[in-house]
Amino acid sequence: MNIFWSLKKAGYRIQQNLFKFFMSFVTFPVQTVYSNPGDMERIPDILKDKGLDSVFIACSKTVLASGALDTLLSGLKSKSVNYTIFDRIQPNATTDNASDGRKAYRENSCKAILAIGGGSVLDCAKIVGLSVSNPSLTYEDMKRMSAIKKRMPLFIAVPTTAGTGSESTLGAVITNVHTKEKYAVISLHNMCDYVILDETLTLSLPSPITAYTGMDALTHAIEAYISKYATEYTNTEALKAIKLILENLPAAVKNGADTRSRRNMLLASNYAANAFTRAYTGYVHTISHAFGALYNSNHGKTNAAILPLVLRFYGKSVEKKLAEIAVYSGLAKKEDSTAYSAAKLIEHIESLNTAFGITHKIPELKKPDIPLIAKKALAEGNPSYPVPKIMNFYECCGIIEKLLA
Ligand SMILES: [Fe+2]
Repeated sequence: MNIFWSLKKAGYRIQQNLFKFFMSFVTFPVQTVYSNPGDMERIPDILKDKGLDSVFIACSKTVLASGALDTLLSGLKSKSVNYTIFDRIQPNATTDNASDGRKAYRENSCKAILAIGGGSVLDCAKIVGLSVSNPSLTYEDMKRMSAIKKRMPLFIAVPTTAGTGSESTLGAVITNVHTKEKYAVISLHNMCDYVILDETLTLSLPSPITAYTGMDALTHAIEAYISKYATEYTNTEALKAIKLILENLPAAVKNGADTRSRRNMLLASNYAANAFTRAYTGYVHTISHAFGALYNSNHGKTNAAILPLVLRFYGKSVEKKLAEIAVYSGLAKKEDSTAYSAAKLIEHIESLNTAFGITHKIPELKKPDIPLIAKKALAEGNPSYPVPKIMNFYECCGIIEKLLA
C-alpha cells in the first residue's frame, strides 16, 4: 500500500512538473485595470470605441434594485449601446443559469459582456462568454483546458465583492446541478479584458458577506504562496494581498462604510487573484468546492473553517513559507523560530474566524457524506493542484471529520 501510494504521489509530481514547464512558455492575456473613483463611467465609451452596440449585462437583482447601475445604464443609452440585463444567477452559479444566459445573449444579438457582481455572477457570465464563442462545447468538454479554442467576447468585469478575484483569473467556477459537481473551468480564453475596481459598489455588503469573501481572498493568497507553482511574481502579489487583508478586513467587517478598507480589500482580492490564477490554490478549495456542490454552502465561509486544518496537515512542508508570511505581515519577528511564526499565522486565522463569527465546524456536514466529499475533493485536487503535500483519501476524511458539528 505504501509503495503504491508513493508511486502514485511521484506520478502526480511528474505531471505537475510537466504542466509547470509547459506553463512557463505561456503568456497570460493582458488586462486593463481601472481602479479610480468614477471609472465605471468609462464603460459606454469602451464599448462604443470598439464598435460594440449591444451588451449583455450580468448582475444580481440586488445590485440592479440598489440603483447603483442607473448612471451606467443612462450612459449606455446616450451612446446608443443596447443592453440586455440578465439577473437570474444564483449563489453557486449553475450550468442551467449559464444556459439561460447564453439564450438571452443570442436572442438579443449581444456582442460584449459586462458582469457586475460577486464571484457567481462573474463566473457564470464567463461561462456564457465561452459558451457563445465555442458553441459546440458541452459544459463537460469545458473541463479540459485544451478543448476551449476561442476567447470570450469582449468582457468587462466589475466585482461587487472583494474575494473571488474572478475578474483577474483564468477560472470560472460552476456547479453542474445534474451531477452535483462544482468545478473550475480554466482557460487562457477566460480572462476578462477590462476590470473596474470601484469600492462604492461594495459599501452596502453586509458584514458576514464581507467576512466570508475576505477570508476567501486570504485563502487564495495563502494557497498560492505555498503552491509548488509559485513564482517571484505570484509571491509578491500574494504577500501584498495577505498584508492588506490582515490590516483591512476587520475594519471592513466592522464598518462597511469605511471606504479606505473597502478599497484596500478590492485591491487585495485582485492581487490575490493575480497570484492564484498562476500558482493555483489547494485542498482548502477542493474540499470547499465539494461542500458547495453538496450543501450549497458559502464558499468563503467553508474556506475559512477549512484553512487552519489544511495548513496544520501540511505541517513542516509549509512551515518556512507560513513563517515568511507571518513576518511580512507583522505577526512575528524575523528572529522568531519558523515553527513559532507559522503557528502564529494559523492562530491568527483562527482568531479572525472567531471575531467574524465563523465557527470551525460546518453545521450542514453529515457524517455519512464524508467519504463522498473526500472523494470529490481529491478527484479535483490530485494531480491538478500543485499542493505542498499530497493528501490521500484517509487523511482527507480525517480533516473533514474535524468539521463535524
Ligand atoms: Fe475561492
